[in-house]
Amino acid sequence: MPPKKNEEFSDGDDKKGANLFKTRCAQCHNLDASEGNKIGPNLHGLFGRKTGQVEGFSYTDANKNKAIEWKEDTLFEYLENPKKYIPGTKMAFGGLKKAKDRNDLITHLRNATK
Ligand code: HEC
Repeated sequence: MPPKKNEEFSDGDDKKGANLFKTRCAQCHNLDASEGNKIGPNLHGLFGRKTGQVEGFSYTDANKNKAIEWKEDTLFEYLENPKKYIPGTKMAFGGLKKAKDRNDLITHLRNATK
């Protein structure tokens, strides 16, 4: 198999991803269905959902109208540079520039948002 390019998702390390979530995302997002929204929407059930669908969360039109489905490849692109992928988003997060960090984080999200 040819080596995976840096520009696409490949499976990462769940444990490292959990740590990244804790340090980079958890101040604004919950993962558990039993918890509510914070500064950002609850991410439970994220995979397979369209943008801007969490009830009771007040999204920007930019986020709502992006209208893509959240899955590995869309998250991989979004999390590198959220403001480039969704111009006008109010998510105040600069992005994870390293593909490996995004792979680890998305691997964790896939497990922890089920
Ligand atoms: C400073 C707070 C903050 C941080 C840090 C943050 N987010 Fe967000 N996030 C938000 C806000 C606010 C929105 C809603 C954006 C909008 O409506 O424009 C959002 C939206 C999102 C969405 C879109 C959800 C949907 O239902 O469409 C995803 C996915 C997401 N964030 C994942 C993450 C991940 C993963 C991290 C960590 C790498 C992270 N965010 C870090 C505040 C944050």
